Amino acid sequence: MRSTFLSLLSLSVFAYAAVPSGTTSASAPPSSTPTKTSTCSFPPEQLFDQSIDHSVTSDKATFSQRVQVNNTHYKPGGPLFILQGDESSDMLCSEQFEFARWAPEFGAALMVIEHRYFGKSQPFGNNSYTNENLRFLTLDNVMSDTVAVVDWWRTNVTNGNGKNSPVIVFGGSYGGSLATFLRINHPDTFFGAVASAGPVRAFLPVTDDPDRFNRYGLVSQYWLDHAPEAAAKVRDGFKQLQEMVDAGNSTEIAQAIAVCDPPKKEERDAFLRDMAGIFGLLLQANTQYIAPLFNITGFPFDVIANRTLTAPSPLAAVNETINAFCLSSITTKGCFDWSLQCGDSIGVQETPFAYLKCSYFNFDQGDVAPGTIFAPTAPYDSTSSCQQTFNITPPTRTELVAKYHFDEATIRNTTRVIYSQGGVDPVRGIAPDQSWFEIAPTDPNAPRYVYADYATHTQDLAISFSGNDDPSLLRVRDQEKNIIKGWLRSANGTLNY
Ligand SMILES: *[C@@H]1O[C@H](CO)[C@@H](O)[C@H](O)[C@H]1NC(C)=O
Ligand SMILES: *[C@@H]1O[C@H](CO)[C@@H](O)[C@H](O)[C@H]1NC(C)=O
Ligand SMILES: *[C@@H]1O[C@H](CO)[C@@H](O)[C@H](O)[C@H]1NC(C)=O
Ligand SMILES: *[C@@H]1O[C@H](CO)[C@@H](O)[C@H](O)[C@H]1NC(C)=O
Ligand SMILES: *[C@@H]1O[C@H](CO)[C@@H](O)[C@H](O)[C@H]1NC(C)=O
Ligand SMILES: *[C@@H]1O[C@H](CO)[C@@H](O)[C@H](O)[C@H]1NC(C)=O
Ligand SMILES: *[C@@H]1O[C@H](CO)[C@@H](O)[C@H](O)[C@H]1NC(C)=O
Ligand SMILES: *[C@@H]1O[C@H](CO)[C@@H](O)[C@H](O)[C@H]1NC(C)=O
Ligand SMILES: *[C@@H]1O[C@H](CO)[C@@H](O)[C@H](O)[C@H]1NC(C)=O
Repeated sequence: MRSTFLSLLSLSVFAYAAVPSGTTSASAPPSSTPTKTSTCSFPPEQLFDQSIDHSVTSDKATFSQRVQVNNTHYKPGGPLFILQGDESSDMLCSEQFEFARWAPEFGAALMVIEHRYFGKSQPFGNNSYTNENLRFLTLDNVMSDTVAVVDWWRTNVTNGNGKNSPVIVFGGSYGGSLATFLRINHPDTFFGAVASAGPVRAFLPVTDDPDRFNRYGLVSQYWLDHAPEAAAKVRDGFKQLQEMVDAGNSTEIAQAIAVCDPPKKEERDAFLRDMAGIFGLLLQANTQYIAPLFNITGFPFDVIANRTLTAPSPLAAVNETINAFCLSSITTKGCFDWSLQCGDSIGVQETPFAYLKCSYFNFDQGDVAPGTIFAPTAPYDSTSSCQQTFNITPPTRTELVAKYHFDEATIRNTTRVIYSQGGVDPVRGIAPDQSWFEIAPTDPNAPRYVYADYATHTQDLAISFSGNDDPSLLRVRDQEKNIIKGWLRSANGTLNY
């Protein structure tokens, strides 16, 4: 049985964004920003000697972890903004992110930490991905890595000047969940957090959890709300596709959509879930700067919805989204491996992400409920594939919450966290919900829910690549900056830097 590990579409996709020429708006990136950075430029990344196993107290074995540190605008006492790395296969660089623009205003230092086991931060070099060596990929170690680089920055990098600097951790998607976990579990190190679209709901086990339908329910709803006629064609196409899968008609499936290896009958649910997932990724990638990857100009959803409308048959209509995404310039080989889901080629490092999704981040990525435009699927349970692939049994949500406290009640009463969501992003369905938060808190430190109507997955964290982001997105970025100023002001009476 093939395992499927659906993608979240990490922040790394921003690194692929084409920076348009001739943008003169205030939010345009520096003209020398490279279009595809495998290493950082402002400034280059450096290596940090990190403990492989933080639970060992003496004679610690270490590895080189990549970090980027930028003290250009730092003023003693000013904050440190740190971006928590995620499942990206390349180093994320502060210059791709909005908070770097705030540095002069805040007198802030900037830092990025690459996540252990991703990119070049490999504890055992090229041998890091054996099951034996992957065992140090734990949430405790990941969090301790970030605490350790913050301590190093406070004492060594700033010669102690950063001792009392408030540290604000940023993260998106899986990294957004990590930002939440860091603020909750290490409040002495992290003064505040910005958690963009971080899933904290719908972890295993899934069978009784209605949240598991939220992600693809939102995708279906978006099609129905914004392209109803195209949605109706997609619905008909999925019905036919489902019938072909149930009939075991592999040849017909391969003619309808360009899968290299059509699903076997027993792979029915995994396949249909992944096909719905590609429609989810289209929405998650719905920005003009990602569009060139798919050889599209404009917003991918609008372009594909139009193509869907003019497609000659319902199956061809389904094919439009799948083709645009899966046969894009970066994945192209004429056909695609559906079990990897096409978005995974966009900068996600598969093996360690699959491992951590089995060991501590086993969120349920989405089943399809009856009544959507997609084909309904049986509950997804990664337990057997985790056992088979990595020989680990994923913990339940109850076990994880008991240890790391990311339950609704704790999120409601943990101060100084911004939970940001985009209206186009289906992942918001498995992230903290607006109803968890006070509508009009009088305490500036209250946790906040912020929302940009026309923004997608983690887009608030990115710089405005195109210079023409939607006003709702520009306003949310500004709102986040002002909320953070409120935290700092209330801690110190005045914002004295
Ligand atoms: C640090 O980041 C700022 C933007 O906040 C940038 O202007 C500056 O060039 C960076 N410093 C270095 C040394 O690259
Ligand atoms: C408050 O201001 C002092 C002096 O400027 C600084 O050392 C300290 O880090 C600030 N604390 C916070 C939480 O901003
Ligand atoms: C690890 O693999 C990469 C890519 O295959 C190779 O360039 C590098 O030399 C290898 N490093 C070691 C230490 O074997
Ligand atoms: C930081 O400085 C201390 C004191 O000089 C030193 O013992 C320690 O090794 C340094 N830490 C790192 C990570 O460089
Ligand atoms: C499956 O293939 C057979 C033989 O080509 C055909 O008769 C049947 O209609 C197909 N069923 C579906 C659901 O596509
Ligand atoms: C990109 O789209 C244009 C216009 O639709 C088309 O002519 C061209 O062949 C496409 N390029 C690729 C690589 O698909
Ligand atoms: C979609 O089609 C409509 C009607 O033809 C047109 O007005 C609109 O500009 C098209 N949108 C895109 C993004 O192509
Ligand atoms: C789906 O797209 C593939 C690749 O472009 C193409 O070969 C196939 O004919 C398409 N199928 C339909 C039903 O349009
Ligand atoms: C926050 O909520 C959690 C879960 O109910 C509880 O254990 C904790 O004591 C609360 N903390 C505060 C400061 O109220």
